Amino acid sequence: MKVQGCTALVTGANQGIGRGFVEVLLERGAARVYATARRPETLADLVALDPKRVVALPLDITNAAQRHAVFAQASDINLLINNAGIAGSETPAERRFLGASSLDDARTVMETDCWAHVEMCRGFAPHLIRNNAANGSAIINIISIGALFCVIEYSSYSAAKSALAMATIGLRAELEPSNVSVHGVFTGAVESRMSAKGTHAKATAPDHAREVLSAVEAGKDDIYAGLGAQAMYDEIRKDPEAFQRGRIARYRSTPMK
Ligand SMILES: NC(=O)c1ccc[n+]([C@@H]2O[C@H](COP(=O)([O-])OP(=O)(O)OC[C@H]3O[C@@H](n4cnc5c(N)ncnc54)[C@H](OP(=O)(O)O)[C@@H]3O)[C@@H](O)[C@H]2O)c1
Repeated sequence: MKVQGCTALVTGANQGIGRGFVEVLLERGAARVYATARRPETLADLVALDPKRVVALPLDITNAAQRHAVFAQASDINLLINNAGIAGSETPAERRFLGASSLDDARTVMETDCWAHVEMCRGFAPHLIRNNAANGSAIINIISIGALFCVIEYSSYSAAKSALAMATIGLRAELEPSNVSVHGVFTGAVESRMSAKGTHAKATAPDHAREVLSAVEAGKDDIYAGLGAQAMYDEIRKDPEAFQRGRIARYRSTPMK
């Protein structure tokens, strides 16, 4: 898959990591980028970067009617970037399983962070297969390094991202015969609204996008991008149980539960 000359669609393009992808796709010579967002008016300055190449479309990824409209409007894509996501309730207890008043918030997180991405893949698969001749076609699913262990403070998010990681492998296997590559990105720390509460160091969204797109062009299935992702993956691999135990101990000793 080559980024130069591609036609791409990015979900959640109006800010953070998604916005970084749109900027870097333009920088790397994409022919057209469909920038999608729940509130398309928030995409105006991205369109202004290059009105001939950036097309703004309304898309709430959990809304089936809006998804179907986008499948028709962006049928020429050969790169789908499933980026939009949520971390769960602002109320910490609602992000856990026993502490939550119900599983309503966890279900919304699962619907948004896993099933909506799978629906996007299902809807665009025929187009990606049809458009793969010149440059190849690809799907990039933005998962999280927090899919490889349970981030206890965001248990429902980890569960949904972990489900997306497995779905990404299933999609990869189903699309491989059609020459559409499916990449899972285990993102580390990147500057955005979602990561704003953390005081740790972070990569910028454009740097994260550059890392991811280079890895896709190099044919990597699983991509560790953003600050600390590769180091954390290496540490988890050494002793997954000890890593998770450390996270549980840290959770139990923090006042914010
Ligand atoms: N930042 C990090 O350190 C980090 C680490 C690991 C993984 N990630 C993943 O990276 C992705 C992007 O997150 P971010 O860090 O850039 O956070 P962000 O700044 O909060 O951006 C999230 C984006 O997703 C959009 N979104 C949420 N629900 C949506 C829906 N139902 N339909 C369409 N768009 C929706 C948001 O739109 P609105 O503006 O309308 O809310 C926003 O554009 C997420 O999947 C996240 O899990 C981030």
